[in-house]
Amino acid sequence: MTAQADAAAIDDALKEAAGLLHGKRRVVVFTGAGVSKESGIDTFRDIGGLWEMFPPDEFATVSGLAQTAMKDPKRLAQFLKEVLHPIAHASPNAAHDAISKLEDHFDVDVITQNVDHLHQDAGSSRVHEVHGSLFRVVDPGGQPLRVLRREQMKKMAADLNRLSSSRFFTLPRVLRAVQPLLGLGASVMHRPNVVLFGEGLNEPDWSKAQKAAERADVMLMVGTSGTVWPAADLPLVTAEAGGKIIGVGPEEGDADLWLQGNAATVVPALLRQLKAEA
Ligand code: OAD
Repeated sequence: MTAQADAAAIDDALKEAAGLLHGKRRVVVFTGAGVSKESGIDTFRDIGGLWEMFPPDEFATVSGLAQTAMKDPKRLAQFLKEVLHPIAHASPNAAHDAISKLEDHFDVDVITQNVDHLHQDAGSSRVHEVHGSLFRVVDPGGQPLRVLRREQMKKMAADLNRLSSSRFFTLPRVLRAVQPLLGLGASVMHRPNVVLFGEGLNEPDWSKAQKAAERADVMLMVGTSGTVWPAADLPLVTAEAGGKIIGVGPEEGDADLWLQGNAATVVPALLRQLKAEA
């Protein structure tokens, strides 16, 4: 296809998407790592993604993390830095901003698998974090203890970076560097409220997300591979209840309509189309 034909096809798809949304009230935006890609946070499963360098069985389960900490604390420090640094330095991109502005047109629930707090920072008012949040620290029973600031995250990432090249590297020092997340010195260990593999999803967000998906007239699915269950079930919940699914991402997936491209380009273009037709 020529560039001209390409642009015309994108235009047609945007018009079709605006048509699917026309006159609808309840919209769910279901997001994954791809929506934050242009904020500088890598996805998990694309080439060069987090799981390529750090396999989930070693870094995304409680037992895997404990074993990695004992066997190879330097790798654990690298992993923590790779996770914390981009999130600490991120700010919302044009996709997060456009998603928050969809509230001018619809009753919007954002359901996100991301733990980076960027939808809230962009101004979305109803965000369900089904995989939790890196910013909320909980006790072992899941009770909320404190909310971290991005500045604290930046300091932890910088401390881990310094420590990685120090000849006085030890596991206790790694744990001390991430003290705001783990609360060392407390009688029990704290943890960030992120969902690891094998754990239940974050409540009450998960229950609210399921209800929102069931009620949605349209679900805009942005930047997710849809491979991690049970979150991946949400588009099916919407479809089964009669709602339409619009997908956004560079690689076409399963949806009633696919808008191909990066979230930070496509979602603002869709918003412009909606405004033009309003
Ligand atoms: P994945 O890494 O599995 O998928 C990211 C998706 O974003 C892929 O479909 C990419 O094609 C797409 N993508 C890449 N760049 C994009 C861009 N600029 N704009 C739009 N889309 C883009 O990430 P998730 O689907 O979020 O869970 O993964 C789901 C869960 O798996 C995560 O929440 C995490 C992970 O393991 C846990 O750790 C429990």
